[in-house]
Amino acid sequence: MIAFIFLFVATIILCFVYICGKYNEDYWKKRNVAFYSKHKVFGVFWEFASKKKPVFQNLGEVYKEYRNEPAVGIGSLFTPTLCVIDPTNVQYVLTTDFASFNHRGLDTSKNDLLADNILFMNGNRWKLMRQTMTPLFTSSKLKSMYYIIDKSATDLVEHLKANKELLKGNAFDTLSSFCSAAIGSAVFGVSTGSIFDSPFLDMARKSTKPTLKSSLKIAVGNLSNKLFTFLGLKLFKDFEDFFIGAVRNIIRARGLEKTKRHDFADICVSLQNAGTIVDKDTGLELKPTDELLAAQAFFFFIAGVEPTAQALYATLIELGRHPEHLEKVHNEIDEAFKIHNNKMDYDAIMGMKHLDMVVSEALRLHPPVGFITRKCVKDTILPVGNVKVEKGTRIMTPIFAVHHDEKFYPEPLKFIPERFAPENRNKIIDISYMPFGKGNRVCVGTRYALLQTKAGLVHLLRNFTVRTIIDEGGPKYVPQPAQVRLYNIDVEFIPRSVPK
Ligand code: HEM
Repeated sequence: MIAFIFLFVATIILCFVYICGKYNEDYWKKRNVAFYSKHKVFGVFWEFASKKKPVFQNLGEVYKEYRNEPAVGIGSLFTPTLCVIDPTNVQYVLTTDFASFNHRGLDTSKNDLLADNILFMNGNRWKLMRQTMTPLFTSSKLKSMYYIIDKSATDLVEHLKANKELLKGNAFDTLSSFCSAAIGSAVFGVSTGSIFDSPFLDMARKSTKPTLKSSLKIAVGNLSNKLFTFLGLKLFKDFEDFFIGAVRNIIRARGLEKTKRHDFADICVSLQNAGTIVDKDTGLELKPTDELLAAQAFFFFIAGVEPTAQALYATLIELGRHPEHLEKVHNEIDEAFKIHNNKMDYDAIMGMKHLDMVVSEALRLHPPVGFITRKCVKDTILPVGNVKVEKGTRIMTPIFAVHHDEKFYPEPLKFIPERFAPENRNKIIDISYMPFGKGNRVCVGTRYALLQTKAGLVHLLRNFTVRTIIDEGGPKYVPQPAQVRLYNIDVEFIPRSVPK
């Protein structure tokens, strides 16, 4: 009997695999589009699930194999999925035809309260919320907020000096704690104590640490949105009480304060005081409830912490391996402190050319987000190859692969910050560099993230020098769906005497 059941189930699975694989292959064949036939059902997700290989790496192999195609179809259960390859098609999806590709590609559950933020919102709600949040990240807002960012970075230095065991071993964890604490301060404000003693730190760390459970949920969402919705998966249920409670308490407390602190909590108070947010074009209304604002506070953590930590980590790793650039950055930082009476400010950081070059190149070589997705919401045609794209098709843009394409970057595996020297910047093809994505859905926190990363580097490198340690077997990537994180490599912080 058991053998019969086993045979029956195996036959059903085999039939399903055959039908689904054939469906995907025929779907793209009919449209004259190349198809990645190695894994016809699960495409680039198969080796993520079976061999724990990051999806962005699998996508990179597909990109290389089909480099001369305009786009390539990929199996993803029954969801037509296309990886765009030709740069004109990439540009078309991310920027030119925004009307057809404005959807992030994942429909989260209505009850997943913290997922109701601009990272996951779509359609007119996304547009209205994005318009409301964008002014938070202007240069003038960031300038007023800089005191928070600067305090966070000086607290990091003090934290390392006070906890010498952190100087060697697990630098990514230290940097990730720093980013959680620093982003926590940008959202909830700073007190006189160290950001590392913040009551929010523990929960912030938990909410941003990718776990097997969260990676699997994201992978299911990427593979099939219908399955994700059918299973009723919620991404952030565990953190609702804490985040909504924290935002509610802080809004009430701030309502009684007179002075402005320039953090996100201030924005929440102003939004609630201003009442319903209305889109003049569509008439859509959004009530700035505690829940909706908590969800926006939450995007700082889930979208901001890990990539910013990775940007810091990647830059330090490369500086530790390239003493000539480390020296230039050290000199630039020391000079800036000298000119500014041993203090750092927004303009001084923005004026550091070599720092900007090394961060830009580190983000090219190690983009923290390996690929991005869009869902087609209106039938359209990709210009190169005349590829017909139906509503519902998922589009993948392989950021990591594009950043490592030698057609755009000669010697792509080498760290060459000169590519981003002011005189060379205009030689970089716009669509070949997208660590923060592109188009209207580009990372809303780009400026904040760069400022936070650079402020962290400036204070760290003022007080420490770095040495990169590569473990046996060489650097590898943590098996996560979209995030790019190195392991088997580490950075040691070595105290340095601060020049007067
Ligand atoms: C170095 C650090 C960071 C990197 C590399 C990064 C990268 C990205 C990328 C690739 C996207 C997708 C863009 C697209 O689909 O075109 C994105 C979206 C987003 N990021 Fe970032 N990010 C960083 C830091 C931050 C920070 C600090 C915040 C919050 C303050 C943030 C908030 C967001 C949000 C809300 C979105 C969704 C935007 C939308 O859909 O309208 N990110 N980010």
